[in-house]
Amino acid sequence: MATFNLKVNGKQRQVDVDPDTPVLWVLRDHLDLVGTKYGCGIAVCGACTIHVNGNAVRSCSLPIGAVADDMEIITIEGLSENGDHPVQKAWLEHDVPQCGYCQAGQIMSAASLLAQNANPTDEEIRKSMNGNICRCGTYVRINRAIRSASKEM
Ligand code: FES
Ligand code: FES
Repeated sequence: MATFNLKVNGKQRQVDVDPDTPVLWVLRDHLDLVGTKYGCGIAVCGACTIHVNGNAVRSCSLPIGAVADDMEIITIEGLSENGDHPVQKAWLEHDVPQCGYCQAGQIMSAASLLAQNANPTDEEIRKSMNGNICRCGTYVRINRAIRSASKEM
């Protein structure tokens, strides 16, 4: 066990866990931030995507020991104060989710893409979202929503 000081969604948090613990489980089990989902546990489905220093990262495969104190972690709960990030608004507008399980990860990946490239081409969207799997097959609506959010960035 070791003590980690983290900056999560703008707040300082402290956890006492084994350094090998994946950030996903620190968020869900220790900080009660359950919006980040467990899908595969091996970095292939994207359900657990969060932002670390603005980059989309698979939290199931990132040990807490690899996160420095000054790194900024953002989860779906902290993406916007009132659920009004352009990506979240576009998701509502285009009625993207079906079962919803993959959607927090999809939104976090899309938000990271648009923060780095405000006007991506369809090909860039496809490439960037490629690692986020949706068993319900919402891909067409995801693409449409990202297009629409890009106009608000
Ligand atoms: S749960 Fe992390 S990528 Fe699937
Ligand atoms: S909406 Fe069901 S897995 Fe994506």
